[in-house]
Amino acid sequence: MPDTPQKSPVIGFVQRDGSVISGTANVSSVMELALELGVRGIEGQCGGFVACGTCHVHIPEEWIERIGRATPDEITMLEYEPSFTPFSRLSCQIALHPDLDGLVVTIPGAEYA
Ligand code: FES
Repeated sequence: MPDTPQKSPVIGFVQRDGSVISGTANVSSVMELALELGVRGIEGQCGGFVACGTCHVHIPEEWIERIGRATPDEITMLEYEPSFTPFSRLSCQIALHPDLDGLVVTIPGAEYA
């Protein structure tokens, strides 16, 4: 039986000015999707190796258990950031998966826009 193509998830990003960019792309991680969409506030400087923290996002509370909390490596990278919360993740560590369709993440700082 041929593989059924999986639908790419549409994910939204709330930028620091409060504007939202959403879309999908054929990439591997939420960080890569942000770069494809030109989301301001996501830089992905280290290319996804948990070494820069420039892909930090906040996950909505209702999604955090489904996506999973930050790993120890992510916490090491983020714990001294003033914007670090229990809902913080490095978006390079979130694999793009159809189950993420409808997720809207927030760039830290957008909460105060
Ligand atoms: S891209 Fe560097 S930590 Fe995610």
